[in-house]
Amino acid sequence: MIASAPGKVILFGEHAVVYGEPAIAAAISLRTYVSLRRSSHLTINGHVPEEGRHRYVLKALELSGAPRGLEILTRSSIPPASGLGSSASVSVATVAASLALRKGGFEPEEVARLGFEVEHSVQGRASPTDTSTATHGHGILVDRVERGGLLWRISRGDTTWYMHHIEVPDLTLVVGYSGVRSSTAEMVAKVRRFVEWSSFARDVIREIGRISLEAVKPLEDGDCEKLGELMLRNNRCLTILGVGHPALSRMIEAAMKHSYGAKITGAGGGGSIIALTDSPEETKKAIEDAGGKAYTVKLGGEGVMLH
Ligand code: MEV
Repeated sequence: MIASAPGKVILFGEHAVVYGEPAIAAAISLRTYVSLRRSSHLTINGHVPEEGRHRYVLKALELSGAPRGLEILTRSSIPPASGLGSSASVSVATVAASLALRKGGFEPEEVARLGFEVEHSVQGRASPTDTSTATHGHGILVDRVERGGLLWRISRGDTTWYMHHIEVPDLTLVVGYSGVRSSTAEMVAKVRRFVEWSSFARDVIREIGRISLEAVKPLEDGDCEKLGELMLRNNRCLTILGVGHPALSRMIEAAMKHSYGAKITGAGGGGSIIALTDSPEETKKAIEDAGGKAYTVKLGGEGVMLH
């Protein structure tokens, strides 16, 4: 049984989504493939599994009720700890392959829920954005209220996230990976400390939510000028929240010579930026000259699937 799931970019609203504010995420053209074959022992990529190294796959197997003896192979084009959803895609692809092995198929909603449980128990993941995007693909609008195009809703504590489908146009983004690994859990905890004691930080979180909602129409219309402006506004808010990094600022400044807009994507503190551009080659070169590793990705594409 082979399943694959895409990586993601958060276009607008990271960190604010943890507090129930709106966010927009989209699948990207980088994927993780997971293959499961029944066997007498459990092996992952030819090795006896290790709790630390294989924690997403092991948790996904446990929560989806997989048989004990499996030969598992994983392959991914998504760089780890880059903010591009590598852990969400491996969790979601493993859950889907395991459910399909057991029951002959899967419901996307069940995969999204279990995928979130996996990430939540492994890293205390704060919102189901990444795992729902890896499951559904295309574009996702997360909101605290129900709108048209509802896919599913996921609750934890007193927050409920309503996941909606949105159509993303055929846009090209350049991702700039800083090479600085960062922990999502640590960045989320850092922002939480700020939000808990500062009403200014809470205002910034709400402003990010407004920016996300304002971005829905320009995204659907492919209005790059407006999207670029909103990306820069969103980036300023993220910097105020303390999730910037000099390597990210350098890449954003370099990318802006050829782009409509650029911003941190994902948890920040390292990881990646995204730039919206008509000139991917020039933008890639500018990011690389600024010390980053650049990838051109297409937005959208299919969510989790069996092969
Ligand atoms: C990380 O991709 C996005 C954050 O908003 C955390 C989360 O939503 O779980 C920083």
